[in-house]
Amino acid sequence: MKATAKAHTNIALIKYWGKREESIILPTNNSLSLTLDGFYTTTSVKFNKDFTEDEFFLDGKKVTGVPYDRVSGFLDLIRDLAGKKVYASVESVNEVPTAAGFASSASGFAALAAAGAKAIGLELNDQELSRLTRQGSGSACRSIYGGFAEWRMGFMEDGSDSYAVPVAPVEHWDLRVAAVVLDAKMKKVSSRDGMRRTVESSPFFAGWLDSISVDLREIKSGIEARDFEKVGKIAEANCLKMHATTLGAKPPFTYWIDTTLTVMQRVRELRENGIPAYFTIDAGPNVKVLYLPENEKQIHESLQRIPGVLDVRLSKPGHGISYL
Ligand code: ADP
Ligand code: DP6
Repeated sequence: MKATAKAHTNIALIKYWGKREESIILPTNNSLSLTLDGFYTTTSVKFNKDFTEDEFFLDGKKVTGVPYDRVSGFLDLIRDLAGKKVYASVESVNEVPTAAGFASSASGFAALAAAGAKAIGLELNDQELSRLTRQGSGSACRSIYGGFAEWRMGFMEDGSDSYAVPVAPVEHWDLRVAAVVLDAKMKKVSSRDGMRRTVESSPFFAGWLDSISVDLREIKSGIEARDFEKVGKIAEANCLKMHATTLGAKPPFTYWIDTTLTVMQRVRELRENGIPAYFTIDAGPNVKVLYLPENEKQIHESLQRIPGVLDVRLSKPGHGISYL
């Protein structure tokens, strides 16, 4: 009863920001992402009837506390689905910085769901796997698929219609992403806490929700037509709207640091100089820059030269779940 799966992270171009039900992770809006080749997790799950509890090793180290509880709680969902009361040993390796705003939770829970379900003998289709993965970390449900994927929020209280669907496969469009790593001295507000605070207290949250359906419709037509300017403009504006909601929360907060703004400005300057590039930012200070392959060298050099930039990691579109 052992299986190993590999899953990539994804970057949201239309953000998931807000939950209507926290216990089983149901969002307040649809979101859309690109799976990234450069960042991934490989996880092995072994169930054994002789184990007396779950154990979790991440990058070779035994994990305890909240990250362990999240994994063990998620294994409970898999056990419930399979109707088997059997504990597991989980070994995971992140080829992505952990808890640093690079969505290790997305690749981590997608790989765990796939390996866990297979190891216990569940035969899930992509939709069922995405629905299960969602309950580990919302954004992870999009990492089941390669290329572009949309998480449909659904309307049912039991979450049965809340899962991701493929929008365009990895071969459709070689859209690139540069992840700009910045030195964050400020303590991070987790996406979970940040979302909750925004939903509960930000007067801008209603405006955020109102804007989603147009953004989503337009970006899908841009992706279909491989229209870089259209997709970039919508993604950048959508990210700015999401971050604007945090400034209206009580108490207000922001994920940005000074160098976040410097990178945003550099991206605008690149555009003014005729090099197409757009930015997007998740729940952290680091910036992801969207660009096309022919501009890779210039974009890379320009971003690396910014004072305060620790690293620039380049990525192509990535594949969905695979089993090793
Ligand atoms: P990130 O930006 O890396 O997603 P988060 O704070 O949102 O940061 O999520 C990090 C958390 O995700 C970790 O503390 C841990 O609970 C979980 N996580 C990360 N990697 C894995 C993994 N490989 N397997 C299971 N859980 C993981
Ligand atoms: C800003 O998926 O990390 O990256 O569902 O609470 O685990 P939980 O949150 P998470 O939130 C991701 C928020 C985001 C936008 C996105 O990826 O869509």
